[in-house]
Order: sequence, then structure tokens, then C-alpha cells
Amino acid sequence: MGILEWSEKFSVNISEIDEQHKVLFRCINDLVEAIQTFQEKDALVKVMDELVRYTNVHFSEEEELMKKYSYPEYENHVKEHEKFVGMVEDMRKKYEMGEQTISLQVLDFMVDWLKTHIMGTDMKYAPYLNERGVV
Ligand code: FEO
Repeated sequence: MGILEWSEKFSVNISEIDEQHKVLFRCINDLVEAIQTFQEKDALVKVMDELVRYTNVHFSEEEELMKKYSYPEYENHVKEHEKFVGMVEDMRKKYEMGEQTISLQVLDFMVDWLKTHIMGTDMKYAPYLNERGVV
């Protein structure tokens, strides 16, 4: 069982976004599993690459959607995304260069950040976009 389990409380009532959030959960769970099973560095970097890649895919698509419908909180939302991407990319770079190990503390922070972001910041656009026919 992964550290992040999907449930309806995470739903923003937009099926495409819900599916993307599920994939993000899986990426983080994969990273947790790779660390807990003491995977080699190359394997860990690969899992981190996928997390970075998919985080960027999801954030870009979500931002496109908010922009398309002129969501008023767009700018602040993007700033939150940028902070998270910066942190994940930094973690990956430092790990590959041997400057940092990936601690469970860092992972806990990522898990908490993602849960809080989806249930707070993402959830705020749900009624706005739903009212405009995005479901
Ligand atoms: Fe679903 Fe704003 O990330």
C-alpha cells in the first residue's frame, strides 16, 4: 500500500485532472517504495525524473485550463506550482550530484504539500471551472 491513497475527498470534479492527480500520487508512491527498498542510485534517479516530468505535465495542463477560463487566482496558483517544481528539481539535482540523500522527511513534506495543494488551492478552482462546463 502506498503512502498516498486516492479517495473522493481529493476529487476536483474534473475527470482529467483527477486522473492526473492519481498519476502524481503514484509517482510519489514509487519514489517512497524505491527508497524503502534501497534501490540503486540510477533507479532512484529514474523514478525522480518521472516525478519531475509528470509534475510539469500536470501543472502545465492545469495552468492551461485556468488560463483558458480566465480563472482569477491564476497567478497565485502558478506561483505555488513553481515553488514545488523548484523543490523537486533541486532535490533530484542534489541527489544525482551526491550532495543529498532523499530523506523520509523530504518525502513527508512533498506528500503534505501535494495533499494541501489539491485540497486547498486546486479545490478553489473546482466550482469556478465546473460552472463553466468543465467537468
Ligand atoms: Fe493539481 Fe495545482 O496542482
